[in-house]
Amino acid sequence: MQVIQKFLKNPLRNFNYIITSDHSSDSIFFDPFDINQTIPLLKDHKPRYLLNTHHHPDHIRHNSEFLALSGTEPLKLKDDEEFYLSPNEMIKAVYTPGHVHDHICYFLYENKKLMGIITGDTVFNAGVGNCKNGGDPDQLFETIRDKFHPIEDKVPIYPSHDYLLSNLKFANTIEPDNKEILAWIERRSQMDLDNEFLNTNLGDEHNINPFFRVFAGVYDQAEMGSNHREIFKLIRSKRDKW
Ligand SMILES: [Fe+2]
Repeated sequence: MQVIQKFLKNPLRNFNYIITSDHSSDSIFFDPFDINQTIPLLKDHKPRYLLNTHHHPDHIRHNSEFLALSGTEPLKLKDDEEFYLSPNEMIKAVYTPGHVHDHICYFLYENKKLMGIITGDTVFNAGVGNCKNGGDPDQLFETIRDKFHPIEDKVPIYPSHDYLLSNLKFANTIEPDNKEILAWIERRSQMDLDNEFLNTNLGDEHNINPFFRVFAGVYDQAEMGSNHREIFKLIRSKRDKW
């Protein structure tokens, strides 16, 4: 199973992902924004399945164009449902409300090992999605606490937007002494932001993502709130205004 990432160079800084099978010519397109930019990335594979994380306009923009191609079909997976791209390549849908009520993330497994997560607008590199367009910060808190924070492994995340640098700069305002955040800012700032990208994994997120740091007990309770939920929601509202 291979993950192809494409940056769309649009103002919302969308990423699109295609998963290709190592054992067939099948592929899965996630949240197609512009298939004219992503179809040419296929070499030995054909456009085959469609999966969406949620229904915001930048995530379903080219659904109908994709489904108009011959041999394509939509997949609709409910929470906990599994889809086998081949006997050893599996995608599992995980219900992750918060950014919107009907958000789904897709966990990618190869030989039963978690290889990565298509996180949509739920987890970004060094941040999380906002709740301004149909979301709920309490649900988002529970999603991060229950579905993502328990994963300690170095599992890569594949988010729908490149907000890394601005998320890191915000994270630095919340936890100014965190040297890891400063090191990532330094590294990302030196790159060509529209042509070079950094992917984080969940291990990184535990160190640099202010919404994961809530559970590490690094924030001053007197200043930020008396429990994890309160602190998480305070950081979410600070990020909205930042
Ligand atoms: Fe969204």
